[in-house]
Amino acid sequence: MIVVKSHDGGLLKVDGFRIRVFEKLSLPPIDLRLKAIREAGWNTFLLKADDVFIDMLTDSGVNAMSDKQIAAMISAQDAYAGSRSYYELSSVVEELMGFKYVIPVHQGRAAEHIISKVLVKQGSIVPMNYHFTTTKAHIELAGGEIIEIPVKEALDKRSTYPFKGDIDIERLEDILRRFGNRVPFVRIEAVANLLGGQPVSMRNIKEVRELCDKYNVLLVLDASMIDWNVYFIREREPGYKSKSLASILREFVSYADLVYMSARKAPSVRGGLIATNNRELYEKLIVHVPVYEGFLTYGGMSTREIAAMAVGLREMIDESIIGSELELINYTVRELDKRGIPVILPPGGLGVHIDAVEFLSHVKRNEYPAGSLAAALYIASGIRSMERGALSMDRDKDGREIYPDLELIRIAFPRRTYLKSHADYLIDRLVWLYENREVIKGLQWVYEPPILRFFLGRLKDIDNWGEKLVEIYKKELGEY
Ligand SMILES: Cc1ncc(COP(=O)(O)O)c(C=O)c1O
Repeated sequence: MIVVKSHDGGLLKVDGFRIRVFEKLSLPPIDLRLKAIREAGWNTFLLKADDVFIDMLTDSGVNAMSDKQIAAMISAQDAYAGSRSYYELSSVVEELMGFKYVIPVHQGRAAEHIISKVLVKQGSIVPMNYHFTTTKAHIELAGGEIIEIPVKEALDKRSTYPFKGDIDIERLEDILRRFGNRVPFVRIEAVANLLGGQPVSMRNIKEVRELCDKYNVLLVLDASMIDWNVYFIREREPGYKSKSLASILREFVSYADLVYMSARKAPSVRGGLIATNNRELYEKLIVHVPVYEGFLTYGGMSTREIAAMAVGLREMIDESIIGSELELINYTVRELDKRGIPVILPPGGLGVHIDAVEFLSHVKRNEYPAGSLAAALYIASGIRSMERGALSMDRDKDGREIYPDLELIRIAFPRRTYLKSHADYLIDRLVWLYENREVIKGLQWVYEPPILRFFLGRLKDIDNWGEKLVEIYKKELGEY
């Protein structure tokens, strides 16, 4: 954002870009929305994008790209091996983050796959602020287990603690003391996706680094959404107000031994990367790249995306570009909070997060309040959000449900994509749904996949509540 003084002595934040290409949206009528969610097995992942009005499923791979990124794609050098675009990417990573060894991979989970293959063994324990679905799957597939140790404020939905992504330092030390030799690395995710896009403070990563040094374990940083974390540090952490985004980024990543990213997020392309200065580790990692990803200089990505990633990384710390969607999230969360909708506070990155257990307090946890709410929001608005609750966890090895601390729907705000009128529409439809929440019942399984079940699982609405919701909607609000 461009920040200037306003006439009344306050601060004015102005978006430092304009929109020159747009995509037309269309709002399907409510009968079609009901038909579409039924056909999608009440799973918003399985909706066709053409049946969606405002797509707030994720920020992944759907951020608006800049003119400079598109231009870089055109001049990318297509070569199976040794493309100039790869060397440009490497030098940008070194310049911005200080890492010499850069491995492109086809997306974030590919990085997690390779890192887990090299570092995680049967019986390994990986402490972290919080898991991400694909991270947990890869660590467990490699024989390890995760331990989540966020600060206690992180699980208090109403707490406005500014860095809910922080690790509980005492618990980390306790784990390292007890299981040190079984811990291959500590993982920090900044911002923490499933905690509601909440940031990690500089102070916290520094303290984690000290403990990693003391117990001789690696610190791995998932920097997929690092742009937002850096912005929040400047907004919220004492001592950083006058620092540049570039210097905050540089300091933050300097505490990690290895950084990986889904480049579908902060750098606004479709790919991923791993970066480190640890040569020994790098040599172990690259063994797996030709097997699973492709040659070392393209790693499963097109060279066009690699070229656009180099630009996207620079834009991630461009003072006038960054922060636009965070301000919109902030506005939406505050408006929803004023209207009594149970939103996660404080406003984080990534999107608006709603506490489905409180919103649908009459729906039992084994009937999936968050899944039900995501489906209901789609019916009531054509807005696609994502379930981030029990459905997003797989069952334990004995087939029992795992109920995560937070049962949320996440309404993502991709970077530089949506406008205030979209946020106002979302607020309006959520308020209507809240007033009619008693109609929404839970969901039950029709087809449950054994792993990452939320992607492909199919369910149905208990007692046909979808039809009832549509009936009331049409009576009160009409066909649209
Ligand atoms: C924090 C985090 N890590 C890893 C991933 C996985 O990245 P990808 O979807 O590119 O495989 C994601 C995806 O959303 C994420 O949010």
